[in-house]
Amino acid sequence: MKKLSARRRHPLAAVVVLLLALAATGGLYAAFAPAGTAKADETAQSLAIEEGKKLYSVGCASCHGTGGQGTSDGPSLVGVGSASVDFQVGTGRMPAQQPGAQVPKKKVIYTQAEIDQLAAYVASLGAGPVTPKEGQYSPEGADIAKGGELFRTNCAQCHNFTGEGGALTHGKYAPSLEGVSPKHLYEAMQTGPQNMPSFPDTTMPEKEKKDIIAYVQAVNGDETASPGGLSLGGLGPVSEGLFAWIFGLGALIAVAIWVAAHTAKAKKS
Ligand code: HEC
Ligand code: HEC
Repeated sequence: MKKLSARRRHPLAAVVVLLLALAATGGLYAAFAPAGTAKADETAQSLAIEEGKKLYSVGCASCHGTGGQGTSDGPSLVGVGSASVDFQVGTGRMPAQQPGAQVPKKKVIYTQAEIDQLAAYVASLGAGPVTPKEGQYSPEGADIAKGGELFRTNCAQCHNFTGEGGALTHGKYAPSLEGVSPKHLYEAMQTGPQNMPSFPDTTMPEKEKKDIIAYVQAVNGDETASPGGLSLGGLGPVSEGLFAWIFGLGALIAVAIWVAAHTAKAKKS
């Protein structure tokens, strides 16, 4: 008895107990932690859906129906996916205010966190295109020249050669792409809002979308992107031709008049 209590009070006993306790906690943590975080993710997700549902009932259900089934004032949102919500609400198109040919962009009234919650709720109604991650839409290292080619074949007929946009039929229009964020560019291609066709990853892989985003940013974002100087509105050969006619020919005529006036003077004297 005496021996045991003496050993208990051994100075190393405390250390041994501590090490054993640490090992036990470590083991327990290893055994339960992964399951724990997975569970936490799941609860976060269902919390987001719940919050999104509340926001939806207040701001969207009047037009899109209480379960997103659609009404005469708004289309069904079942299966449009989180990307469509992130685009529509993130560019200020939704919530729409009044009926018209096309819902215009407005000031964004939800925070990104609220948009994510709305998107989570709508995505829970039916699978659809998922909001892209930064790695998918960041134009870093993309091929601008290839992007220009793709843009001219797929987008220029509506958005014009450098994306200033243009009018379509029945009061609709393809908007200017100036200042549109890479994420919203990607989502527009994914989801095809309004009259715009969609370009899902199966027909236009992520890499090509990145090239297009890099091109749009290069021709719109920054003034140094017109290596020839003034972009003349980027309308293509017509405006450039007109410029050449008015200013080029104008200058030639001015020179001709000057020469004529001077030769006339020279003859007189
Ligand atoms: C006043 C009615 C109205 C309200 C309120 C409204 N929407 Fe819409 N929504 C529309 C209409 C109309 C369209 C079709 C837009 C178009 O064709 O330009 C649309 C389209 C959409 C689309 C695109 C659907 C698709 O097929 O890709 C999404 C996503 C969307 N709305 C989400 C929302 C969300 C989220 C809210 C609430 C924050 C909301 N809307 C509020 C009327 C409304
Ligand atoms: C048939 C015509 C058409 C074609 C082709 C087209 N778009 Fe669009 N695009 C539209 C229309 C119309 C809208 C406006 C949708 C709305 O307001 O709901 C739009 C909207 C957009 C927007 C949203 C801009 C903003 O202000 O938020 C982006 C980005 C976009 N298009 C990119 C593209 C790209 C990139 C391509 C080629 C891969 C393309 N579009 C091809 C007609 C077109």
